[in-house]
Amino acid sequence: MIPYNKIYKSQKEEKYILDSLDRRQISGDGYYTKLVEAFLTKRFNLNKVFMTTSATHALEMAMLLIDLKRGDEVIMPSFTFSSTANAVLLRGAKPVFAEIDIETLNLNPQSLYNCVTEKTKAIIPVHYAGIGCEMGEIMDFANKYDLFVIEDAAQAVNAKFEGKYLGGIGHLGCYSFHGTKNFTSGEGGALVVNTQDECLIERADCIRQKGTDRSKFLRGEVPSYSWVDIGSSYSPSDLTMAMLYGQLQDIDYITMQRKRVHELYSSLLQKYVDKEIMNITKIPANCESNYHIFYILFNDSQTRDYVMEKLQQKGISAYTHFEPLHSALMGQGLGYNAGELPVTMKVSQCILRLPIYTELTEIEMLFIAESLEDILGGL
Ligand SMILES: Cc1ncc(COP(=O)(O)O)c(C=O)c1O
Repeated sequence: MIPYNKIYKSQKEEKYILDSLDRRQISGDGYYTKLVEAFLTKRFNLNKVFMTTSATHALEMAMLLIDLKRGDEVIMPSFTFSSTANAVLLRGAKPVFAEIDIETLNLNPQSLYNCVTEKTKAIIPVHYAGIGCEMGEIMDFANKYDLFVIEDAAQAVNAKFEGKYLGGIGHLGCYSFHGTKNFTSGEGGALVVNTQDECLIERADCIRQKGTDRSKFLRGEVPSYSWVDIGSSYSPSDLTMAMLYGQLQDIDYITMQRKRVHELYSSLLQKYVDKEIMNITKIPANCESNYHIFYILFNDSQTRDYVMEKLQQKGISAYTHFEPLHSALMGQGLGYNAGELPVTMKVSQCILRLPIYTELTEIEMLFIAESLEDILGGL
């Protein structure tokens, strides 16, 4: 059986987790949380990083920080995870679903013009598969209409757009370190604050600490801490940050291994692209990927479903991806219907993700390619 994903593991995670236990301080903002925040800040050249319990929670924090409220609207692609829209709904505001680009599966900047109204407060571009959205156009649009940009970079840790790390371009950025991601602590995330606004940074700190100024207290700036803002429990255990610190030590190795998988799949499958049987993940010239997902786009859903079933029969786990949010039960409840956003619908029906992880061997990839050959030959 070839799984879809297998987490990377070295000896370092165990070593740091045991060390964290020995330090007898495993709640939030301990030794390893600080190390991870410092690592991400330096490596990705970021302004301020707050580690969180998930990207879902980083997105929720972001919506609190921009004071999103009932009557506001936030533009996002429909081709994303439920968390992107839930963060908006939790504040009583409305997610407005934009179309994606068939070449990258990312938010199509042209679609923003159809979605913007006087109620629009923010845009959430989602960097699908670790490939950056057209951030230049999106930032220009946001500046023109005075909107916040919150990057959903859940899948895009260690990926770049025009030389800048994703998550560090919009006003705020959100990362995920979930078990399915390239670098993981099981559950985990981060909120990146890219503006120099000290008030916003201080507010993010309080929101993350259950609405208290506990961080000021820990720094010895106030004699006790108290309830100063709305907030929740968004800071992760230091044990999980110890695990993540171990993973981040090997960030280049993990990325290199995933790149190897991406490149071998690309070369093995190019002949089907030439025959117009499928399209595969493309990395635009102005992007550097973290190789989070390798996908095939078939021409129709019947072929996709058939190939997926046959691969599974051969012991290869290949998966579809997001059900578009506008056509899901919740989206329909918000008044959207499946007939809208044809590119999004088509992608959702035709996409198939192939196994990708550091330990995937060349023999396994050749077996996957041979299996595809067998299956496609039988069509
Ligand atoms: C685009 C996107 N946003 C948000 C999330 C939520 O991440 P987390 O599981 O860390 O909450 C995911 C998770 O896969 C995602 O793909």
